[in-house]
Amino acid sequence: MQAHAIDPERTATTIMKPIVHVERNYHSFAGAQYVLPSDDPERERLALQHSVLKKMFENRIIIPPISFDTADKILDSGTGSGIFLLDLVENKTVPVSVVLQGLDIESRLFPLEDPRVISRGNVHFTVGTVTKLPEDWTNSFALVHQRLLIAALQAHEWVEACSEIYRVLTPGGWVQLGEVGSPKAGVVTEKHLSLLHTLLTAKGLLRDIAIHLPKMLETAGFVGVSVEERKVTLGRLGDKTAWTRGITSWGVQRYENPDSESWRTGLRAV
Ligand SMILES: C[S@@+](CC[C@H](N)C(=O)[O-])C[C@H]1O[C@@H](n2cnc3c(N)ncnc32)[C@H](O)[C@@H]1O
Repeated sequence: MQAHAIDPERTATTIMKPIVHVERNYHSFAGAQYVLPSDDPERERLALQHSVLKKMFENRIIIPPISFDTADKILDSGTGSGIFLLDLVENKTVPVSVVLQGLDIESRLFPLEDPRVISRGNVHFTVGTVTKLPEDWTNSFALVHQRLLIAALQAHEWVEACSEIYRVLTPGGWVQLGEVGSPKAGVVTEKHLSLLHTLLTAKGLLRDIAIHLPKMLETAGFVGVSVEERKVTLGRLGDKTAWTRGITSWGVQRYENPDSESWRTGLRAV
């Protein structure tokens, strides 16, 4: 039998530190299957995740080639801590008159006291589900952004979500979705993923939603699908050793409405 190469630092950390189980807070939205917590540690995780993903996409957080009019509105569906909207505000990515709307099944992480939200005066947060958006939002948004609902929706809910997002977009509007693809990783991450897979399957959630989304969106009526994918190395040592290496793909799909001006003039997502 061949001996494994051992990283003494990692081995020591693994053996010495017991797993500390801490009480976490979760959503209480009726019928929702979402599995992750909603509390301060999760807010920190979402902030870190946002900065990693932003870096992976060359510091872009809006991928489609949209030029916003002053009266436009943007919806961030499944907004969580609102980190995507806060970034738009802080970096003045869109005109200050553009109304920013966050929606989530859980309000605990909404950044209602954040000075950036208060001073802008047109950033709103609503409790609700993407599978049944408010009736009066029809034809409202120039962009709907939704990121990482992989642990949230069952197959039929993804279909409903695509259709609801289509309804609330203005003609010519865009949806930008970010979801995790199929990771490849070392043994510890593989074990974690296997447990996660069991949990998601038991709850009827789709692990490989990134693969299904283009077809689902076309069925909902979107056209001009485009996917951008990035690989993120996982693990403390990144890609320095084989056994800690992991790859996660991240897809962004862009769509445009067939009767939009941009479609007629031939502007297609690349
Ligand atoms: C992994 S977090 C991502 C948060 C945020 N999109 C980001 O990228 O930082 C997923 C979020 O989706 C929300 N969520 C879960 N099910 C939802 C639903 N049916 N409708 C709207 N939001 C939902 C969760 O409460 C959580 O805040």
